[in-house]
Amino acid sequence: MIVAANLKTNLTRKQTNIYIKELEKFLSSENITQDIFVFPATSSLDTFDTQTIVGAQNAYPVQNGAFTGEIGLDHLDEFGIKTILIGHSERRHILGESQEAIAEKFNYFKELGFTIVYCVGEPLEKREAGSNVMMEYINAQYEGIDTKYEKLIIAYEPVWAIGTGLTPTNEDILAIHRELKKKSQAPLLYGGSVKVNNAKEIMALQNVDGVLVGSAALNVEDFCQMAVFAEDLEK
Ligand code: PGA
Repeated sequence: MIVAANLKTNLTRKQTNIYIKELEKFLSSENITQDIFVFPATSSLDTFDTQTIVGAQNAYPVQNGAFTGEIGLDHLDEFGIKTILIGHSERRHILGESQEAIAEKFNYFKELGFTIVYCVGEPLEKREAGSNVMMEYINAQYEGIDTKYEKLIIAYEPVWAIGTGLTPTNEDILAIHRELKKKSQAPLLYGGSVKVNNAKEIMALQNVDGVLVGSAALNVEDFCQMAVFAEDLEK
C-alpha cells in the first residue's frame, strides 16, 4: 500500500528534516515495508537518503529559465528527486492551473521517468449535480494524461473533502474508486480529510491502494500510525 503526506505550505527546512528523521526512525523500528511518500514544501527539499520517497509538490515543466517563482528540473535533480505531485486541487483551483497546463507538466515529467502522483476530484457542486455531471467533470481531468504510464499513481481527492473534516461515505468511495479503476489500473489513493480515526477503514476498502494525507500528516505520530495501518492491511 501507499501512504503519502502532502505537507503543503507547512514545515520549514529544519522542521522537515526533523519530521523525516522521526519518520525514518519509526519505519525502520517497526519494519514498515509499505511505500511511504512525503511531499515537502519546495524550499524544504533536500537530499534525503531515506526509505521514505521524497517528492516535489510542484515544478515547472522546464529544465531552467525565466519563470519567476517556479523551480525547474535542475532544482529537482540537485536533490535527486524523481517523484512529483501533479494536478492537486489547490493548484487547479487556487493557483488556476488549467487541464492543458497540467497535461503538459504531466507529459514533461513522464518523459523524464518521474513517478507521478496525479490528483483528480470534484468540487461539491459537481457532486451535488449527480453522478453523470460528476463523472464528466472527473473524466475531463484525465484529458491529455497517459493512464497507462507505469510510474503513475492516481489520487482521488474530492475538493470538498480536502481540509474540511468531511469525507465521502465508504459506499461513495467504493463506487467512485470502482469507476476510476476502469479508467486506469494505476494504484489509486484516496485523499481528503484522512485522519488516524478513519484511515484504516478507508484503506481497507476495495480498490483503495493507499491514502494521500494533508493536515493529519503534519503530526508525524499520526502519519506513522497510518503507515502501521497500511502494513497491517497489506494487500
Ligand atoms: P487533507 O488534504 O488531508 O488536509 O484533507 C489532503 C490533500 O490535499 O492532499
